[in-house]
Amino acid sequence: MEKTLVIIKPDAVKKNLIGEIISRFEKQGLRVAALKKIKMTKDEAKGFYIVHKDRPFYESLTDFMSEGPIVVMVLEGKDAIAKVRKIMGATNPTQADEGTIRKDFGESIERNAVHGSDSPQSAAYEIQYFFSALEIL
Ligand code: RTP
Ligand code: MG
Repeated sequence: MEKTLVIIKPDAVKKNLIGEIISRFEKQGLRVAALKKIKMTKDEAKGFYIVHKDRPFYESLTDFMSEGPIVVMVLEGKDAIAKVRKIMGATNPTQADEGTIRKDFGESIERNAVHGSDSPQSAAYEIQYFFSALEIL
């Protein structure tokens, strides 16, 4: 079983989509292993997205991710990383497949409703960024 870190981003939390989004993952066989609602500071968002520090969108992305509450969760299942990314859809909602979360709820390439880890290495970094071992069940 693989674990991955998912975030419901501030745009989707604001639109009251927490239940709808979690439900889409659960319906595809993923299990919630850890879950909480938090609000990141700008510095916490910068630490989370440190891999993007040299990208032109780093400042704007970290402003967005710290603008309001988010829901962070660990999802577990077979091929969880790839499965989550398929359910989320492409980064740019206009390019996302029909029926994906980003197609249905994303507002723009930045305000795209959800985050999912992109590799086992990033999942390991991202899970420990928010959760202690005791909080993952
Ligand atoms: P994520 O990390 O959030 O799951 O998204 P992703 O892998 O599909 O995309 P990534 O390249 O890792 O980018 C991280 C987040 O940065 C914002 N972004 N803005 N303005 C832009 O061109 C741009 N490109 C990316 C998005 O919020 C994206 O999810
Ligand atoms: Mg990414």
